[in-house]
Amino acid sequence: MHERKTLIVGNWKMHLNVHQSSLLVHRLNERIKTHRAIEVVLAPSMLSLQPLSLQIDRRKFKLAAQDAYFKDEGGYTGEVSFTMLGDLVEYAIVGHSARRLYFGETLETVRDKAAAAVRNGITPIICIGETKQEHDEGQSRQVIHDQLTTALMNLTSRDLDKVVLAYEPVWAISTFDGILAKPHEIDQAIKYIRTQLADLYGQRAAEKMLILYGGSVDDQDIRAYLEVPGVDGALVGAASLNYHQFAAMVDTAYQIRIRA
Ligand code: 13P
Repeated sequence: MHERKTLIVGNWKMHLNVHQSSLLVHRLNERIKTHRAIEVVLAPSMLSLQPLSLQIDRRKFKLAAQDAYFKDEGGYTGEVSFTMLGDLVEYAIVGHSARRLYFGETLETVRDKAAAAVRNGITPIICIGETKQEHDEGQSRQVIHDQLTTALMNLTSRDLDKVVLAYEPVWAISTFDGILAKPHEIDQAIKYIRTQLADLYGQRAAEKMLILYGGSVDDQDIRAYLEVPGVDGALVGAASLNYHQFAAMVDTAYQIRIRA
């Protein structure tokens, strides 16, 4: 069997100021235990990364940026580069649907950001997933295919060890339509993604890739999603802001791992 670890990632999106972020970490720290096979990743706002990097117990928590710019430096007013984040984070979310839909990120932008993350020693968590309209029109596979192949285009197969994928159907995200995806739908999508990876990079690379699921995951439904074969963790939005729920989700992940 594979030895892929389990990743539980909290994407706090544009919530919590520095003080509130620190308080949430404090509460999580009291409740979450370190588990060897489980990595707990927190993605606060850009502003909170620096103070939290000093606060966290790095054996227990890793940090992720929610985004960054693909140039390493230059006259890009308002942007922060992956180079600047190098000492602070191990991960960066790349190509989140909110970035694609609200901020016009194209397939090529996501490709360049994924490459910039890897170049700077940061593991990109590359988000892919179709919108409700694409889903209803039967376009899901084509969309996933296009997003996946372009995002990985400038990476070598060796780089893939430093990449995580997250399948987040936009229609299942709480702040968009928020319809709960059924585990068998996730199963099909994840299988499709691994088949694509195998075609592009070989069977071994496809088996090693960590693939997370995201979309209205909470402490009630996480078990069903984590039990889908090939799902290696969760990318959690709204429920990650609640320390009871987030700690419970980490605990569920742990129970599933020790039983396996
Ligand atoms: P929700 O868990 O709030 O649906 O958000 C999912 C998401 O977008 C995580 O990146």
